[in-house]
Amino acid sequence: MRQTPVNYDIVNRKIRENNITDIGNCTIREIKKLIDTIEMETGEKYIRMEMGVPGLPPAKVGVEAEIAALRNGVAAIYPDIYGIPSLKSEISRFVKNFLNIQISTEGCIPTVGSMQGSFAAFMMLNRLKEGRNKTLFLDPGFPVHKQQMRVLGLQWETFDVYDYRGEKLAAKLESYLSKGEISSVLYSNPNNPSWICFTEKELKIIGDLANKYDVIVMEDLAYFGMDFRNDFSKPGQPPYQPTVANYTDNYMLFISSSKAFSYAGQRIGMMAISDSLYNKSFPDLLKYYSSSNFGHAMIFGTVYALSSGTAHSAQYALAAILKAVNDGEYNFVEEVKEYGEKAKIMKKMFTDNGFNIVYDKDEDQPIADGFYFTFSYPGFSGSELLAELIYYGISAITLGITGSERTEGIRACVSLVLRNQLPILEERLRWFQKDHPIQ
Ligand SMILES: Cc1ncc(COP(=O)(O)O)c(C=O)c1O
Repeated sequence: MRQTPVNYDIVNRKIRENNITDIGNCTIREIKKLIDTIEMETGEKYIRMEMGVPGLPPAKVGVEAEIAALRNGVAAIYPDIYGIPSLKSEISRFVKNFLNIQISTEGCIPTVGSMQGSFAAFMMLNRLKEGRNKTLFLDPGFPVHKQQMRVLGLQWETFDVYDYRGEKLAAKLESYLSKGEISSVLYSNPNNPSWICFTEKELKIIGDLANKYDVIVMEDLAYFGMDFRNDFSKPGQPPYQPTVANYTDNYMLFISSSKAFSYAGQRIGMMAISDSLYNKSFPDLLKYYSSSNFGHAMIFGTVYALSSGTAHSAQYALAAILKAVNDGEYNFVEEVKEYGEKAKIMKKMFTDNGFNIVYDKDEDQPIADGFYFTFSYPGFSGSELLAELIYYGISAITLGITGSERTEGIRACVSLVLRNQLPILEERLRWFQKDHPIQ
């Protein structure tokens, strides 16, 4: 039997019992379940890097406001589908303060997590115009978005931006948009899983081409303000979180409260639609909706049909969080900086032990340290590497399931790794390198 940090036989048995034939193709939740069962049987704690969940306590001001709202009886009352007024105006203030863009309160809509925002958008954006029924993903990306497309029976196109950074992005993007079938483009910035951040030059390319081909950009800001190379934390003061909204009016933003405010459990996020798009009319919408007006159809057609709005008490929580942030009383960026600090230490441990960072640059700049990073090991595919790391008490996901073409890569999420586990991580990585000497 091999000597590995976690009992070799038990790991093998658990893989069999969970009916796993290829770890590289497992979903995040399948990996989570596998590791849970191994931990339970061996008593050995893993360095858990598979799931992107917040590792910090929820924003306190939100919890207090939510409790107060519940005590006031909001649980008995249906919330308005378009959101409570105080939240709508705080969202509008937030985008002004931290993105420096103007969006009317009407287009600021709470959603059941930003996942519901993307689901609602996918449903509508691919029905705006006959023949324009595909979304283009600037990958790598969040696998659940593709799952949303699948369950909606929608089609998509994708390419990995790794080889198309800077000027090269323009021709590549245009080669898709010029075919005339793409309704919309989605990317996350900072990016899950690679933590690359588009530069202003790249955002301008995306915005200009969205204008040229009348395509709608969905900008997923799940990790708002978390490119810690810049301080985006001061309301109403530059620098601002970069956004495509500076270059086109054809946009929708998805802003999650899960990571920025550690509020994942209450499933509340924000959709912010540009005024121009909100007020636009698309006659083809009349096949599905009572109005051809985009904003009206989104709220009274799509969001109504999906969940009839967003949990009432959570809206009070988010309104209170945003008010504190907008008033400069709560520095949300400072609260989550811990992720970047841990990433810096962890990335060094990996590279000191023979691993490489896969997505390592934003054009000519080293990428930021943040919630995720990507790594590989010489001679291993991502799938083989993950399968092997499981014996070393390290769990993650392969980049293969994220639309990445870097099939040698693995995504690590730093959030659940505790500071006191870092020496254990280092020891396991050293053990791994000793057992797998680089040729
Ligand atoms: C890129 C990206 N978009 C969206 C989400 C989901 O956000 P929410 O919890 O607000 O639904 C996540 C969560 O991990 C994410 O990484």
